Amino acid sequence: MKLFLDTANLNEIREIKKWGVLSGLTSNPTLIAKEHEDIETHMKALCAEVDGPVSLETTALESGPMYEQGRKLAEIAPNVVVKVAMTPNGLAAGTRLVADGIPVNVTLTFSPAQALLAAEIGATYVSPFLGRLDDVGDDGMYALREICDIYEVQGYDTLVLAASLRHPMHVIEAAKAGADVATMPYDVFSKLVKHPLTDNGLDKFLSDWKKLQQELKEGA
Ligand code: E4P
Repeated sequence: MKLFLDTANLNEIREIKKWGVLSGLTSNPTLIAKEHEDIETHMKALCAEVDGPVSLETTALESGPMYEQGRKLAEIAPNVVVKVAMTPNGLAAGTRLVADGIPVNVTLTFSPAQALLAAEIGATYVSPFLGRLDDVGDDGMYALREICDIYEVQGYDTLVLAASLRHPMHVIEAAKAGADVATMPYDVFSKLVKHPLTDNGLDKFLSDWKKLQQELKEGA
């Protein structure tokens, strides 16, 4: 399972990139808005910073303008993936973008039925939003498992991108379910690496090492 960062913040990208585990980026209008930068310049900077696919989202609601907006987004950089919402117009615009050879990510997907439609238009990614399903008392992980099973049985090429992940267990369960990609905010990414026994173990190794250096110095 590939790990993507869900952010539009360049410092967060630079930090996780250093670890060597970052395979791509997802963004959405909310995340872009938080940065208060010139939109196109900032989108270019995001694409230049990430060695991998970068999802940029359309905001038009009608299929024609959404398609045109998607074409423009795709011109920003060769690694752009155009996000379209899971609506009839989003599917129509996505179908045209796919026909033009532009990779599409169908976002705001909440059910296996919707995920079937994303696969049928030949989207590169489908993004089921787990956390938001949990927020309304539904079971996001159950929906993800269903989608992964259906894609497996049907042999669809569309990649399942588990989104709206809120904590490390979401990431672990998404991997077990067979998701192709997990996208998560910086905060969740940072929690993946943390374990108190790692910190305690490191403290002990370093203090023993320091003691040894001191003994050697005193013996010399
Ligand atoms: C994914 O592409 C979305 O940007 C994201 O995962 C949404 O997550 P949220 O529900 O935490 O806003």
